[in-house]
Amino acid sequence: MMAAALHLVEASAAHASVLAALHGAGFEDGWSADSLAATIATPGSYGFIALDRGEPLGFVLMRVIADESEVITVTVRPQARRQGVARALMDAALARAAELGATTAFLEVADDNAGAIRLYRMLGFTETGRRPGYYARKTGVRADALTMAMTLS
Ligand SMILES: CC(C)(COP(=O)(O)OP(=O)(O)OC[C@H]1O[C@@H](n2cnc3c(N)ncnc32)[C@H](O)[C@@H]1OP(=O)(O)O)[C@@H](O)C(=O)NCCC(=O)NCCS
Repeated sequence: MMAAALHLVEASAAHASVLAALHGAGFEDGWSADSLAATIATPGSYGFIALDRGEPLGFVLMRVIADESEVITVTVRPQARRQGVARALMDAALARAAELGATTAFLEVADDNAGAIRLYRMLGFTETGRRPGYYARKTGVRADALTMAMTLS
């Protein structure tokens, strides 16, 4: 099901504090507004925020360098999940990457993040590798990173 009035806007450094609040709700080690603003300001970086009647539901950040693109982060507010918001954000981000000349997209994801892995597979990503113990959890447990890639058309 798609959220009722989903609307995507281009993310800019001016949105950094909104992005930091969303990121902190999605990840144990949320990024600060300053680091998000610096990331958006990096050459080749861009992002989209999903809004429902003005309320931010999630965002994606991407980077394109020559013919390669990378998903930097994607997150959706817990209350707005399983409504197609991440899918809409990823579709827009991957379409933009192709427009900018990227022919491949890469990402990394914790191997215990089954929901995200399912989303990425649905979009066309396949697993290309594994980085053992890449993510440190607050519990002290470490999770492997899977690297995934897809060809953009
Ligand atoms: C992963 C995340 C971004 C997905 O956002 P979302 O808006 O709920 O995803 P969508 O509704 O667009 O999901 C599209 C499809 O992906 C799959 N999917 C997404 N989340 C899932 C979950 N928790 N469990 C199983 N499948 C899931 C499903 O196939 C889903 O389609 P369906 O709902 O029709 O079954 C969200 O759970 C999140 O923000 N998690 C915390 C941050 C994070 O882990 N980001 C990714 C790190 S690499």
